[in-house]
Amino acid sequence: MILIANSEAYPGFAETVARLKQKQEGLRAMIEGIKLVELDPRVRTVGRGGWPNVLGDVELDASVMDGDNLRTGAVGALQGFLHPVEVAYRVMTDLNHEILVGEGAARFAKEIGALEGENLIENSKEVWWKKLEESMTESEKQAFPNIPLAKLSNNATDPERVRDTTVFLCRDANQKLSVATSTSGWAWKYPGRLGDSPIVGAGLYADSRYGACACTHTGEMSIRCSTAHSVVFYMKMGMTLEQAVYEAIKDLQYLKDGYTEGVTIHAIDKNDQHKVVSLNCPGPITYWFWQDGMDEPEEREAEIITT
Ligand code: GLY
Repeated sequence: MILIANSEAYPGFAETVARLKQKQEGLRAMIEGIKLVELDPRVRTVGRGGWPNVLGDVELDASVMDGDNLRTGAVGALQGFLHPVEVAYRVMTDLNHEILVGEGAARFAKEIGALEGENLIENSKEVWWKKLEESMTESEKQAFPNIPLAKLSNNATDPERVRDTTVFLCRDANQKLSVATSTSGWAWKYPGRLGDSPIVGAGLYADSRYGACACTHTGEMSIRCSTAHSVVFYMKMGMTLEQAVYEAIKDLQYLKDGYTEGVTIHAIDKNDQHKVVSLNCPGPITYWFWQDGMDEPEEREAEIITT
């Protein structure tokens, strides 16, 4: 067994470890851990306490993937619910679809009795408006929100606050590989923007025959390179875990136009090896690690590559 997660996972990592030790199914064990991250307002890029979009609404993305059958479930731009990862799981188990967004996702969440709640905390509201004020003229302030948002979103988007998401990846007692993600996405994003976290193949992928991968940071880059699927696919084609991650880093380094900043790749394979490599992310980048036989999880440093 192995479990890895990014640094933001700290409120829920031990919960998932405890469940894996009891030989619980990996995806459920990770979801219960992620729910604690989603509820914790100290984690400013996930769930309650996450930064809002440019209109001041917290829109959440989340997803799950089961590596035994390649089933997935995802939600995007979900508002008003505390546990998007649970709703994503129910998309997988209750629907013939793999992804729901916006109003449809909220309707489904209500239908299944998902926990409702306000994810915008007072501090986020204050910081959001202060940042917007700096980017708007007096007349724009008067007319807000009935003004064009594209330039405002581009200018106000705050790279200092776009880091992370939470990603959990594990191989459970039954040798199943799975992965789950949850995020509030970019601070001050354009309404309706989806990052890589709900996009299977970009922000997450798991196939129990080979490996699993999940990405944090600039989703726009991992979407363009299909990073998570690429890592697993490169392993399928015969590369080692390490070679596969470095090849996916090369793919990301090829990107020159558009918004390019950093991506952190988290990957495990079917032999319980793992690799976490961070490209151009402001460091140090840490992640959580636990493996069969360890009493306590460890926080470790990712390998850093800068170009
Ligand atoms: N990686 C998270 C996002 O881009 O939304």
